[in-house]
Amino acid sequence: MKNYFVACLVALSGLVSVSAHAQSAMPMAPARNDALFQALGGKPGLQALMDLFVAGLKADKRIGEQFKDTKASYLSEQLVDQVCMATGGPCKYEGADMKTAHAGMGITKGNFNALVEVLQASMDARNIPFATQNQLLALLAPMHRDIITAK
Ligand code: HEM
Repeated sequence: MKNYFVACLVALSGLVSVSAHAQSAMPMAPARNDALFQALGGKPGLQALMDLFVAGLKADKRIGEQFKDTKASYLSEQLVDQVCMATGGPCKYEGADMKTAHAGMGITKGNFNALVEVLQASMDARNIPFATQNQLLALLAPMHRDIITAK
């Protein structure tokens, strides 16, 4: 069911590729309001979510190895800034763009879907409502084009 949902998101994001392409220089254009940022619990909510998410990534049997050299606090902070900015919060993400950040990692669709499942589990654990989860996943799904580089 979860894989099916991820597949739908990826398929949907393919359907809107024309508009997404037009903004490919800024795939995460700032949101028009901060409703999603607030629904995620603002900055403290995002910090708690991303700490859990990064710990989950490191512990995951499928993709944990890919994060073995990653400093958890660093990645968590980058994700907070990125998602805060994308959801209308008062932050500025200053890390690398998604293509540069993931270049040469050989990330597959399976790796990407595994990461999305870890994020879903982290959101479940934080009692984030399903509709809010879907809004965040819909924001992140189009990034697969820049992140997946291997079959
Ligand atoms: C929508 C999905 C994803 C998002 C939003 C995302 C976001 C990010 C961000 C913000 C960074 C930090 C970039 C920087 O510091 O300049 C990063 C780094 C990284 N990402 Fe991703 N990522 C995604 C998918 C993936 C996947 C599927 C993998 C592998 C399974 C992955 C592995 C990594 C690794 C290993 C790093 C380097 C962390 C370090 O500095 O040690 N990412 N990602």
